[in-house]
Amino acid sequence: MEKFQKKTFRIRSWQPTDVPSLVEHANNANIANNLRDSFPYPYTEEDATIYINYAIGKSPMQDFAIETDGKAMGGISLVPLSDVERFSAEIGYWLGESYWNKGIATEVVRTFINYLFHNTSIVRLFACVFTHNLPSVRVLEKNGFRKVGILHKAAYKNNRFVDMYYYERCT
Ligand SMILES: CC(C)(COP(=O)(O)OP(=O)(O)OC[C@H]1O[C@@H](n2cnc3c(N)ncnc32)[C@H](O)[C@@H]1OP(=O)(O)O)[C@@H](O)C(=O)NCCC(=O)NCCS
Repeated sequence: MEKFQKKTFRIRSWQPTDVPSLVEHANNANIANNLRDSFPYPYTEEDATIYINYAIGKSPMQDFAIETDGKAMGGISLVPLSDVERFSAEIGYWLGESYWNKGIATEVVRTFINYLFHNTSIVRLFACVFTHNLPSVRVLEKNGFRKVGILHKAAYKNNRFVDMYYYERCT
C-alpha cells in the first residue's frame, strides 16, 4: 500500500471552525471503541464544541488537531502527570478512519515526540493501549516505545473488562 507522504499533515491548535470536521471524523464507533469513554459515540456537534472550548482554554496547550487537506481529521493529546512524576506524560491519538493505514499516525507521533522532547521538560512518555488494538501497538513500537507490561482487566469498555498494554519511551 502506498504510504502517506511525509510533511503533508500539520499538528496545530484546535479552532472553533473545526467543529464540523471534528464531528465528521470523530463520530465513528471504530474510533471510540479504542479510546476512553470520555471520547463519546455518537459524537455530536455539542460534544465537539465542548471539547474544542476545553482544549483552547488550557494553558499550556495539551490537545492538538491533526490537519490534512486543510481540515482537522484527528487529534493528539498530552496528559502530564504531577508531583514526583511531573516529568512524565501520557499521550493519546486518533485519526479519521478514511486516513488509516497510510502511515500518518506513525509520522504524527514521531513529530509530536520530537517536539516534546526538545521543547518541554518531559523526559518520559507512556501510552495505555487495549491489547486488541494492534494498529496502535504498531504505531508505538515503530516510534521506539517499549512494552513494559500488561495491565489485566485495567479497563471496563463496552460492558466487559479489557486488558491493556503499558508502553513507555524515554528521552
Ligand atoms: C491507531 C491509529 C491512530 C493508527 O493510525 P494509522 O495512521 O492507521 O497508523 P499507521 O498507518 O501509521 O500504522 C498502522 C500500523 O498498524 C498495522 N495494522 C493495521 N491494521 C492491523 C491489524 N488488524 N493487525 C495488525 N496490524 C495492523 C499497519 O499495517 C501499520 O503497520 P506497518 O506500518 O508495520 O505496516 C488509528 O487506527 C485510529 O485512530 N484508531 C482508533 C483510535 C485509537 O486506537 N487510538 C489509539 C489509542 S491507544
